[in-house]
Amino acid sequence: MTPELVLNNGVTMPALGLGVFQSPPEETAAAVETALNLGYRHIDTAAAYGNERQVGDGIRRSGIDRGDVFIETKVWVSDYGYDETLHAFDKATRKLGVDQLDLLILHQPATDRFDRTVAAYQALEKLLADGRVRAIGVSNFMRHHLTDLLARTEIVPAVNQIELHPYFAQPDVQKVDAEHGILTQAWSPIGGITFYPGWGEQRRNVLQDPAIAAIAAAHGKTPAQVMLRWQLQQGRSAIPKSTNPGRIAENFDIFDFELTAGQLAALDALDTGIRNGPDPDVPRTAMFDRVIPED
Ligand SMILES: NC(=O)c1ccc[n+]([C@@H]2O[C@H](COP(=O)([O-])OP(=O)(O)OC[C@H]3O[C@@H](n4cnc5c(N)ncnc54)[C@H](OP(=O)(O)O)[C@@H]3O)[C@@H](O)[C@H]2O)c1
Repeated sequence: MTPELVLNNGVTMPALGLGVFQSPPEETAAAVETALNLGYRHIDTAAAYGNERQVGDGIRRSGIDRGDVFIETKVWVSDYGYDETLHAFDKATRKLGVDQLDLLILHQPATDRFDRTVAAYQALEKLLADGRVRAIGVSNFMRHHLTDLLARTEIVPAVNQIELHPYFAQPDVQKVDAEHGILTQAWSPIGGITFYPGWGEQRRNVLQDPAIAAIAAAHGKTPAQVMLRWQLQQGRSAIPKSTNPGRIAENFDIFDFELTAGQLAALDALDTGIRNGPDPDVPRTAMFDRVIPED
């Protein structure tokens, strides 16, 4: 049983989930089924990952009741706008094979088309009011995006999912989230974006950090497990991705040890302030060309 977090509207969400970004569709159902059989009860997908259908298949194959699994997905920017986002909900639920989503979030701010981002969020508010989704939120929002959104909408997001690992912890975004009662959820919680295979230039791989290795050795755990403990002990949700059964199990085997205050502080001290993922403030027009299929 994973610890649960209570969102700002009273809905509970398992703190630890399985991510499926870059999980090939043909491996996704098995990864989801494996995770659910190990005890995971939360899956994070996205329209843009192209594997919502296989996430639904994996949930059904596990035999676990739909009501016991927390399903989170994201609306891609090309579906922003009020009617477009209502339709994006229909596409996502059709692919997942469910009637209701537990958490639906905007994948990122479309900073050069913020009116459409706001309209998309207003569609999420409508879906929430109609009981089609249990909670709504955002992803990759920085302080000024949240300030602009909150000024123009009614419902405070339940979750802000952001790049967050020891080398890039975004303390200012964590702070603004906390100020508004928004739960911070870490993507790349074990620093995947610092070592994705085939992502071009060499990056400093957080999994190979000597300070993290020393903490891991002290607990007889792995660096990935230490990073996930750091996330959860500081009150964040984390959604590590793996399609490898051994690593899916490893990432869930984190409930039998505890980091000390000094170890948490040592992990905090590794922050470089350097983002690895795309800067949410740099418009990327190509992302609007990506059409999310109907089926
Ligand atoms: N909102 C956004 O913009 C956004 C962006 C990126 C990600 N996300 C979400 O966050 C999830 C997690 O982030 P992420 O996929 O970027 O990175 P991550 O979970 O930090 O790391 C994933 C990478 O680490 C490997 N891995 C997994 N467990 C491991 C372990 N115990 N030891 C060593 N390597 C391990 C995985 O490979 P194997 O599969 O081979 O194990 C994969 O290459 C995504 O899947 C997605 O759901 C959201």
